Amino acid sequence: MQKKRAISGVQATGSLHLGNYLGAIKHWVNMQEEFDCFFFLADLHAITIPQDPDNLRNSIYNSTAAYLASGLDPKKTTIFAQSDVKEHAELSWILNCMTPIGWLKRMTQFKDKAGKNQEIASSGLFTYPVLMTADILLYNADFVPVGEDQKQHIELARDIAGAVNRKFGKELLKVPEPLIQGNTTRVKSLRDGTKKMSKSDTSGHSRINLGDSRDEIVEKIKKAKTDSLEYISYEESRPEIANLLEIYGEFSGKKIETIVNSYIGHGFAKFKNDLAEIVSENLGPISLKYHQYSSDKGFLQQTLRNGKEKASKTALQTICKIKESFGFLNL
Ligand code: TYM
Repeated sequence: MQKKRAISGVQATGSLHLGNYLGAIKHWVNMQEEFDCFFFLADLHAITIPQDPDNLRNSIYNSTAAYLASGLDPKKTTIFAQSDVKEHAELSWILNCMTPIGWLKRMTQFKDKAGKNQEIASSGLFTYPVLMTADILLYNADFVPVGEDQKQHIELARDIAGAVNRKFGKELLKVPEPLIQGNTTRVKSLRDGTKKMSKSDTSGHSRINLGDSRDEIVEKIKKAKTDSLEYISYEESRPEIANLLEIYGEFSGKKIETIVNSYIGHGFAKFKNDLAEIVSENLGPISLKYHQYSSDKGFLQQTLRNGKEKASKTALQTICKIKESFGFLNL
């Protein structure tokens, strides 16, 4: 039986962090046997905000290294850079012409990212979710494994696929399903439990990066914001503690209730020490491999070249089908 296909990506800016890992990449690693997987570096998405070329290049390499270090295996999974498969940009244009502006105005991430600067933000930032739609529809993906923050974008991809299919009266494009897995679908900032952990946060202490050393992890967890209460409990009104408990639960495999019970009578110092130990035990091997892969550019380039070749074959088939349907000559 043919495997179902999964596609997803991480924007290639800065370092990959614990949120990317627990919300997405960890699940991708577990999907590699059962699914036909395409996981890419979203470098075209990176330039929706200004990028220094050297930083962008490094981010693409480093994100690839983080994929491999986390356990993505290029023998099982197609790993490639989005900009290397030109059909992403080509399909994105066609889909832009199928997307009402009103649909894009509803996207909360544009409002979050552009903030007060909506008039001077790039139009690429505004149409960002259409490029994301192209990324997905180009591969006829069944599933898109992502964290919770991407749900609205996948809903849009479904709407756009539906609009194209209605125009032609047949299922030209597969309507994808979001796959939001596990208990850490939205990891919060270590400095503010009401915000998600994010690459764009100006405080380096707000996130744990996949390449962080043991000492960095210990320090960030020690300094993680808590509140004035001295006991551990899992409550909505205590978002910072809830976040730390969720991370603890994900890495230890223990139920949150069990963790809370085991800290009755203890303060935050012991809890944070133990959490730092568990996190660095789990991320230590990833960090080690990350630094090894990052320094082997030749291997990273070869991985991305192989991925480009495989991804291009599928992408070309879809774009030809779409262009013919729209009336382009495709000579
Ligand atoms: P990006 O780079 O913001 O995030 C990559 C993946 O990590 C998840 N994630 C989180 N999960 C839990 N807690 C967090 N704090 C957290 N932060 C990030 C995201 O949900 C995502 O799954 N637009 C996308 C990249 C993209 C894409 C695509 C994804 C481009 N094309 C096509 C899927 C399909 C983005 O910026 O993700």
